[in-house]
Amino acid sequence: MPEPADLLARGSTGVGTGVVERDRGLVWHPYAPLDGTPPYAVTAARGVRLELTAPDGTRFEAVDAMASWWCAVHGYRHPHLDAAAHAQVDRFSHVMFGGLTHEPAVTLAERLTALAPGPMAHVFFADSGSVSVEVALKLSLQYQAASGRPGRQRFLTVRGGYHGDTFAAMSVCDPVDGMHSAFPGVLARHVFAPRPPQARHDAVSGAWQSDAAALDAWEAQFRALAREHADELAAVVVEPVLQGAGGMHVYDPRCLRVMRQVADEHGLLLVADEIATGFGRTGRLFASEWAEVAPDVICVGKALTGGYLTLAAVLMTDAVGATVTRSQFRALLHGPTFMANPLACAVAAASLDLVEATWHHDVPRIERRLADGLAPARDLAAVRDVRTLGAVGVVQLDRPVDVPAVTRAALERGVWVRPFRDLVYTMPPYVSTDADVDTITRAVVGAVAQVHG
Ligand SMILES: Cc1ncc(COP(=O)(O)O)c(C=O)c1O
Repeated sequence: MPEPADLLARGSTGVGTGVVERDRGLVWHPYAPLDGTPPYAVTAARGVRLELTAPDGTRFEAVDAMASWWCAVHGYRHPHLDAAAHAQVDRFSHVMFGGLTHEPAVTLAERLTALAPGPMAHVFFADSGSVSVEVALKLSLQYQAASGRPGRQRFLTVRGGYHGDTFAAMSVCDPVDGMHSAFPGVLARHVFAPRPPQARHDAVSGAWQSDAAALDAWEAQFRALAREHADELAAVVVEPVLQGAGGMHVYDPRCLRVMRQVADEHGLLLVADEIATGFGRTGRLFASEWAEVAPDVICVGKALTGGYLTLAAVLMTDAVGATVTRSQFRALLHGPTFMANPLACAVAAASLDLVEATWHHDVPRIERRLADGLAPARDLAAVRDVRTLGAVGVVQLDRPVDVPAVTRAALERGVWVRPFRDLVYTMPPYVSTDADVDTITRAVVGAVAQVHG
């Protein structure tokens, strides 16, 4: 058995001894081949900054324009979150949730139900966003079966969505741009309405601009599809107002109101996937609030723990919970080992303290700064569109982004970005100062100009 001191010594070797070389061919990275572009190594993270070492050994200090994929809204090593984590480690880090409960889970559930839009009454904790979507879909099927409609086993959603990488979640992702073609015959076939037409939100006036005729046409198609398939549908599943990984697509809140009405007309649940949009990111605490819509079921994750630990939750109304409780099974048929992990719940509650204290001034501040700072990208020949919603800024090119080149060019300007498809985008931590946001926008515009002209 190695002595603890040996383990510490081994653990501390880190990047200096070539973590990137040791990583290559050993560790899979998201959607990347084993022999793909080598990753950058993170040697430290504090506030909004990452310390990175490039595969060629160059060191960078970079503002994290991605907030670690929407999560690290308060930045890294935040004293309030660190304190919550330490305090909970000193009590207990994990216990099973079957037959047991604990203060961190109950406190977090109380706070989430109080904060979320609509009368949310119950919480099911899951261990990642995708799993929470699985649970929400399962819950919808159980709800319909318990309501005497066991034949309702399909979901109505819109094209362009992204809901995660597990099988049921994948099945409601965009059928073309998602991973349907990689798993032919395995993914359930659901009902896809057209993507809601693109809208713009003006950062200064707060007004929404959209094409009324396109909206009318979309509404008619959505209503017709729902009518046609009503008897087989369990729920409408959607990312409210902002579709994230499916293309950073902003749509008019009116579409969400239509979905709410359609769900009510046909006895469907409305499942709002707020995993990316929740906790202030779009300029409302939850994006459903843009439409003043109360979903039946809400999935949250990502920023829930401020990016410290993996945790997600499914919130539901009393009516949904009561119906499932009256069913043959009485239970929601799910129970992950790490359900309601106490450490994650304790940090999440601390993160909510910060979200509640900060989002309503930081997000509009960042939105205005992003809108101003990214505007010059409109003059670049390769840029098709520039848009912002809340603390999200998007530069869309007329071609696929050269990801390694843009990443490196942004790093040389002090910023970490992770473009995908034709998009260079940012969702900075809420703690980013005005100067940090300016650093981000200058780097995004500069990197796009340098690489794509
Ligand atoms: C809207 C949305 N739903 C679900 C997921 C899946 O969450 P996770 O990656 O935690 O499984 C994501 C992740 O990007 C997402 O953006």
